[in-house]
Amino acid sequence: MPATVIVGAQWGDEGKGKIVDLLARDSDLVCRYNGGPNAGHTIVVGGETFKLKHIPSGILQGKECVIGAGCVVDPQVLIEELDDLESRGISTELVRLSGNAHLVMPWHQAIDRGSERRLGRLKIGTTRRGIGPTYADKAYRLGIRIQDLLDEKILRQKIEVALPEKNVWLERVYGAERVEPEGLVERYEGYAERLRPMIADTSLLVDRALTDGKRVLFDGAHGTLLDLDHGTYPFVTSSPTVAGGAAVGTGIGPTRIDRVIGVAKAYVTRVGEGPFPTEIEGADQERLRELGGEFGTVTGRERRCGWLDLVALRYAVRLNGMTSLALTKLDVLSAFSELPVCVRYRLRDGTETEDFPAHQSDFHHCEPVYETLPGWEQPLDSLTDVSELPTAARGYVELIEQRLGVEVCLIGTGRERERVLERVA
Ligand code: GDP
Ligand code: IMO
Ligand code: MG
Repeated sequence: MPATVIVGAQWGDEGKGKIVDLLARDSDLVCRYNGGPNAGHTIVVGGETFKLKHIPSGILQGKECVIGAGCVVDPQVLIEELDDLESRGISTELVRLSGNAHLVMPWHQAIDRGSERRLGRLKIGTTRRGIGPTYADKAYRLGIRIQDLLDEKILRQKIEVALPEKNVWLERVYGAERVEPEGLVERYEGYAERLRPMIADTSLLVDRALTDGKRVLFDGAHGTLLDLDHGTYPFVTSSPTVAGGAAVGTGIGPTRIDRVIGVAKAYVTRVGEGPFPTEIEGADQERLRELGGEFGTVTGRERRCGWLDLVALRYAVRLNGMTSLALTKLDVLSAFSELPVCVRYRLRDGTETEDFPAHQSDFHHCEPVYETLPGWEQPLDSLTDVSELPTAARGYVELIEQRLGVEVCLIGTGRERERVLERVA
């Protein structure tokens, strides 16, 4: 299968990085198509932990890695990441950067912080990395792109157009400090020096790779429910996170994509604000967080934890045209004797539905209806084959497959690269 999208099926942090790293072994090219330094993928290899923000998770397998046009790039963060990888013996020579990707500028971060402060209790709970303001300027056509770094005159002019307007917002709307223009062009020219050799026509590169029969992986950032159009708006990120975004964000036609693997945790987490029907109340929330190490890769924030939500997951199957599912962190559930799984939502009028509500107020006020499954209460980390799964664990996986109508192709049983059971239908 030459073109495979890996997409988060929940609210992010499903373990996409680990799955992409695993599948990259048998791929030639790995592409990021959306998001920026708000993404954080943790991959554990040989006892060493790698935290990637911009660079596709295929880098650890030595594969050619593309940062596509749909991404937003904070050059300082990208360069730090490149340096960190090089210092740890990972070559970054094969990283390719689209000239059409947009730059996160200092005012975007300042506006993100100012906007969250101004919203107060209505805040979104963003990563404060400037993502929303950067995508907003892209749509407003005031953005600065990677290719603008290549021409000092264009870069200076674009900064001179954007900055005065941004400073009015910063000072008057957000009561925040101005961003001073001095030294800004020079700073970004410094970044340009470092990034110049990586800038490429990545749409053409991916197209050629596919035409040559190479195996291409698309490394999704965030999760389906954080999608700008189809997620739990406004508590979403500012890019298309769904699988369709892979075509748009890399610049290939949708007919080139062969399969879509959704990645879901065996439970659910969410960082930031917004509705979360299966969020656990009481001690199990803390227990699950500690057992799963549920603290943000980017911000270190506590992730909110909840039981598996099959209504939301079925929505993700639909939105992504998911062909199979990778189920991660099944090992974390070993500690629980009973496992509630949400199979329906009860709406305010008392009716029950298996379909994700189309209206935000229905979703905000729905109550989860649970079926409770027995736990297996034994560790899974020493398993090497899916046939060794305890009966109750197999039952948990089969319930998911049956209710979603999608096969579970991979099961995560630990943090390390090799802790995955492959399941053949
Ligand atoms: P991503 O953003 O989707 O790539 O996910 P993150 O890396 O932000 O968060 C997933 C966390 O779970 C990371 O710390 C991974 O090392 C860890 N992880 C991934 N798969 C598994 C698994 O099957 N079991 C356990 N225990 N941890 C896992
Ligand atoms: P990965 O790729 C989890 C969430 C933020 C916030 C909302 C908007 O690691 O799965 P933003 O800074 O994007 O404007 O924040 O989206 N969010 C994520 N949550 N994992 C992510 O990425 C996320 N990227 C954004 O917490 O609620
Ligand atoms: Mg993450």
